[in-house]
Amino acid sequence: MSERVCYLDNAATTYPKPPGVSKAMLETMKNIGASPGRGGHRMSLMAGKVLFGTRERIAGFFNVPDSRNVVFTKNATESINIALKGTLRPGDHVLASGVEHNAVMRPLEKLSRGGVPYTIVPCGRQGFLSPDDLEKAILPSTRLIVLTHASNVTGTILPVLEVGKIARSRNIIFLVDAAQTAGALRIDMEEMNIDLLACTGHKGLMGPQGTGFLAIREGIKLDTLVEGGTGSRSESIEQPDLLPDKFESGTQNTPGVSGLEAGIAFIENEGLDKIREREKALTRKLLEGLSGVKGVEIFGPLDPEKQTAVVSFRVSGKDPGETAEILDSKYGIITRVGLHCCPLAHKTIGTYPEGTIRVSPGFFTTDSEIDYFLRSVGKI
Ligand SMILES: Cc1ncc(COP(=O)(O)O)c(C=O)c1O
Repeated sequence: MSERVCYLDNAATTYPKPPGVSKAMLETMKNIGASPGRGGHRMSLMAGKVLFGTRERIAGFFNVPDSRNVVFTKNATESINIALKGTLRPGDHVLASGVEHNAVMRPLEKLSRGGVPYTIVPCGRQGFLSPDDLEKAILPSTRLIVLTHASNVTGTILPVLEVGKIARSRNIIFLVDAAQTAGALRIDMEEMNIDLLACTGHKGLMGPQGTGFLAIREGIKLDTLVEGGTGSRSESIEQPDLLPDKFESGTQNTPGVSGLEAGIAFIENEGLDKIREREKALTRKLLEGLSGVKGVEIFGPLDPEKQTAVVSFRVSGKDPGETAEILDSKYGIITRVGLHCCPLAHKTIGTYPEGTIRVSPGFFTTDSEIDYFLRSVGKI
């Protein structure tokens, strides 16, 4: 077993996190302890400030006009479930792309059994989606379009801006799964006409696992999946209708949220453009290097401008699982192998059911780590 650890699985969760993240979490646990909205004492108020400050930072970062429309969740999966199940009713129809993650597909499949059919608009072999194809698939009953902003298998960036315009002009709710792009690509809810933005905190936003949020455009009517204590309107047996309380029942993850704020603050300090440029450079190096290794097949756009820092590949004649296992045990290189919770994308790119090996560098990945990875693949 290799002693060395070369982490190249940032599309699963970013690692390492900026030092400010664990510091903020520890300080919240040591100094605040209490829960927001649970009593009027000073510690509860301090906890409330942590949530409020993070909400404001998220609203600024994604251009959400009112931070009350940012609802904390435990991950993108929960956000997507609230968005889909909170809006769709029997008779509604949904459009989705051919590279959606199971976080979208499984709730859609369940909804379809309850009378909410969906149509998959096919993507090309590199994962690209044509906005024209999507527009042609709209039915009179289409109530919602859901799109991942970038594929977690190939990194392919989907045309969110164009689809947002189509959705708005047809009065269709537009849900974006930004699990792979929040903190990696610029996202502007207003400019992109996004009605519901589902994000996870532990990937590009560099926060801890167990954090995420759903940003809801003013005027979008959503039902709750969970009801309970919110610390507000306690005299009423009805779930409060005001945001964010309506969707934040139960004790919130205050330490996690403080870590998420520190992650976003780091991105703001470094600059999103700088992070994107760095990740593009690493992706370019990976693509160029891998295309020079005999027997390696790479999937996706093969163009850093058109993808996030995610590259999927296979070594011919070798099972992807075996290659990934050698990379880990012999060289200490951590990648992700298989179907990546996204069988649909693998069917689209022609790698189902074996899957691929996914390499995903992050902002902290060094050039020498990419060199080491490429040398190791060459040896295999
Ligand atoms: C495209 C996409 N959507 C949704 C998710 C789900 O994110 P989480 O596990 O944080 O809920 C992921 C995570 O792998 C993803 O890559």
